[in-house]
Amino acid sequence: MSAFWSMWVSVITLAVIVGCTWLLLATRKSQPHQELTEETVGHSFDGIEELDNPMPKWWFWMFMVTVVFGLGYLVLYPGLGNFAGVLGWTSTKQWEEEIAYAEENYAPIFAQYSSLSIDELQLADNAAGLRIGQRLYANNCSLCHGTAGTGAYGFPNLTDNDWLYGGDEATIKHTITQGRMGAMPAWLPVLGEEGILDMTHYVLKLSGREHDAGSADRAEPQFQALCAACHMPDGTGMNALGAPNLTNDTWLYGGEFGQIAHTLRVGRSGVMPSFRHLLTDDQIHLITAYVTSLSQD
Ligand code: HEC
Ligand code: HEC
Repeated sequence: MSAFWSMWVSVITLAVIVGCTWLLLATRKSQPHQELTEETVGHSFDGIEELDNPMPKWWFWMFMVTVVFGLGYLVLYPGLGNFAGVLGWTSTKQWEEEIAYAEENYAPIFAQYSSLSIDELQLADNAAGLRIGQRLYANNCSLCHGTAGTGAYGFPNLTDNDWLYGGDEATIKHTITQGRMGAMPAWLPVLGEEGILDMTHYVLKLSGREHDAGSADRAEPQFQALCAACHMPDGTGMNALGAPNLTNDTWLYGGEFGQIAHTLRVGRSGVMPSFRHLLTDDQIHLITAYVTSLSQD
């Protein structure tokens, strides 16, 4: 905050407190009756008369206490413009302390499972470890991949055995640690609307569904020229690029004719965030064990 705005905030804040206090004291002083009275101020509404009584003492003192509390707070904590408060408290510092506390107390719980392999963690003996993995999953991943891991439109299902990038331990860990970004270009500018519809028939053909044979035949050479580099000549996809298998019945963005055509027109770019700074290696190990368990039953 610039010095001007810092002053602006400080002056207004203090002026309001001083102003309220002055108002309180001034009205108390000008009050003609310092003790309880039967005299009215003359207002009457709906048969209710307003007596000219002073404000209750407890109310007055409560108000004074809030003023003192407010001033004390402004001395101790940040509140007056750029003044940091004499305690030096910041929300970042408090957050860091809480994180450090959590690391110290919970890290050993995660660490006791780091020496167990992913396979060992699937055993009933180590069910507690898998449950921790499940809770970490629920907190960090379920928002996108669903509480049961079954995914949603644009978010891959983790319970099937169809992987964009691969379902082995090293690949899952890489996915979680580094994040992923699918890159499927938009084809409308290249293929034109006619070409998009032809190509959609070809994709239907790849997954063995009803299609227009003439359209699919027209699109085939273009698939080999434009798409095979990522989706492979037979359409089975490529893990290294996260290019989905187009020959099965699993769809990230929907397998209806209109949905496929839309994918081809506009392109797709799913983003899996990186958890490098959010989770420790031990936590990622437990989540990986849990994710692995999802596609094993
Ligand atoms: C903000 C949403 C989001 C969150 C949170 C998220 N993911 Fe993902 N995840 C995605 C998307 C989107 C993809 C697909 C990326 C792509 O299209 O290339 C993905 C891909 C994956 C894959 C690769 C699947 C495959 O078929 O190869 C795995 C494994 C995965 N996520 C696990 C996790 C785990 C474990 C967590 C929690 C630590 C998590 N994700 C949190 C959105 C998310
Ligand atoms: C540069 C590599 C690349 C090329 C070239 C490419 N794709 Fe893709 N395609 C991908 C990736 C990566 C995804 C997944 C996008 C995501 O994860 O968000 C994808 C997704 C798709 C999907 C959605 C699949 C689903 O499960 O919903 C279809 C359909 C598709 N591509 C068809 C094609 C066709 C047809 C062509 C050629 C005209 C083509 N792709 C060219 C990389 C490519």
